[in-house]
Amino acid sequence: MADPGTAGTGEPVLRLTGLNKSFGPVHVLHDVDLTLRLGEVTALVGDNGAGKSTLIKCIAGIHPIDSGTIEFDGRQVQIGSPRDAAALGIEVVYQDLALADNLDIVQNMFLGRERRRGLVLDEDSMEEAARETLARLSVRTVKSVRQQVASLSGGQRQTVAIAKAALWESKVVILDEPTAALGVAQTRQVLDLVRRLADTGHAVVLISHNMNDVFEVADEITALYLGRVAAQVRRTDVTHGQVVELITAGRSGDLGLAPATAAENI
Ligand SMILES: Nc1ncnc2c1ncn2[C@@H]1O[C@H](COP(=O)(O)OP(=O)(O)OP(=O)(O)O)[C@@H](O)[C@H]1O
Ligand SMILES: [Mg+2]
Repeated sequence: MADPGTAGTGEPVLRLTGLNKSFGPVHVLHDVDLTLRLGEVTALVGDNGAGKSTLIKCIAGIHPIDSGTIEFDGRQVQIGSPRDAAALGIEVVYQDLALADNLDIVQNMFLGRERRRGLVLDEDSMEEAARETLARLSVRTVKSVRQQVASLSGGQRQTVAIAKAALWESKVVILDEPTAALGVAQTRQVLDLVRRLADTGHAVVLISHNMNDVFEVADEITALYLGRVAAQVRRTDVTHGQVVELITAGRSGDLGLAPATAAENI
């Protein structure tokens, strides 16, 4: 198995060690270790209920962790709220996207963090920054940044939500199933955007159930099995079949959880 401590080329930006999380009597995350690197896409895979969303909500400051450490840029941090996460440069794009239909693209990208000049909103500066961010990410599908979000296609909405996350000098961008509801062409565009996010220096986490998407865009794959990390491996070191086994059985050949650990949870 590739050593997650040294396998990547990018600089580690977020490192979780021994993270545990329970909801009442239900122990959901067990001793989770995870390293995210700048310039890399880490796919987070696992069956329904494996703990993917719970894990990202711990990183995003929505759920307090019970034990374990979180290091960001080499120093230990506490992430007690979404505000703490945003201040560190951690942005999450949730599946429901949380965009406001009745507002345009610029207004959505700056929602709750508007720029002001004196008492009035600095529309020109926000419009410019929105345009720049979309251009930096080579987004060509959006015609006008003053278009209402209600009139956008599913893929364009996803694009706006991702660009919004990239706007805030974010270092870590977490995407929960960004292509789940998209057709072939729109999936293609969103995957290209995910790659460009990493290529422009972000550490990207992609939660996906789609193995084709994972193998197309990920540098690293972390498989969760019943709340445990079965493996964190380089994409080039594994096959589709191995990843499917890690997801469904927690192990695949030499990879994954020890048989006793994998079995005790069944
Ligand atoms: N707020 C909560 N209270 C109690 N249990 C919870 C809570 N949130 C999640 N769980 C439990 O934690 C486990 C992991 O759920 P989670 O939503 O993290 O899975 P997931 O990997 O994101 O699954 P999916 O692929 O279906 O989105 C599940 O058994 C779920 O019931
Ligand atoms: Mg989930």
